[in-house]
Amino acid sequence: MNKETKITYVNNISVEDYNALRKSVNWINVTEKRAAIALKNSFYLCVAVCDNKPVGMARIVSDGGYTYFITDVIVHPDYQGHHIGTELIRRELDYIQKDVVAGETVMVSLMAAYHRESFYEKFGFHTRPFGNHGPGMSMWVSRDVTGNPMTF
Ligand SMILES: CC(C)(COP(=O)(O)OP(=O)(O)OC[C@H]1O[C@@H](n2cnc3c(N)ncnc32)[C@H](O)[C@@H]1OP(=O)(O)O)[C@@H](O)C(=O)NCCC(=O)NCCS
Repeated sequence: MNKETKITYVNNISVEDYNALRKSVNWINVTEKRAAIALKNSFYLCVAVCDNKPVGMARIVSDGGYTYFITDVIVHPDYQGHHIGTELIRRELDYIQKDVVAGETVMVSLMAAYHRESFYEKFGFHTRPFGNHGPGMSMWVSRDVTGNPMTF
């Protein structure tokens, strides 16, 4: 990527491009059916595009009332370090801020990948644990190819 490379921002991505972006950062593949549901039900989706190809994305899932969760924050390795991630998070937070009117408070959270905390702290996120907030928790619920349930 050079200084002349033009990045535009759109609000859609195909299932194939979504999984290609995930693969580029070594994240697990999401089945076609689940990826389509996930993308369709995004509260807000922002995708960075270069030469008609998605090179970054971030999305919000939300109940639309109090809870907003930023997820799938990805910039393709060939495009990292050029502030595309910053622009994606800026647009996500801008969208939430416009949704909140005087006198309202909402919770915005995310699960930072290991050692990515400083990237998000610049926007005002607190690294947990802090105060009476414990560390975040998560797990995968899965079935192996024979249908046996697994969590990891
Ligand atoms: C994390 C990620 C989205 C950042 O995107 P990016 O476009 O490369 O980031 P930017 O160029 O906007 O960087 C913004 C700032 O964060 C810093 N930063 C970028 N990646 C960082 C990292 N991995 N750890 C700490 N700081 C980081 C940059 O140094 C930069 O600082 P500056 O403004 O002082 O120059 C990208 O590296 C990525 O997709 N990583 C793999 C997937 C991943 O971990 N996603 C996040 C899951 S929570």
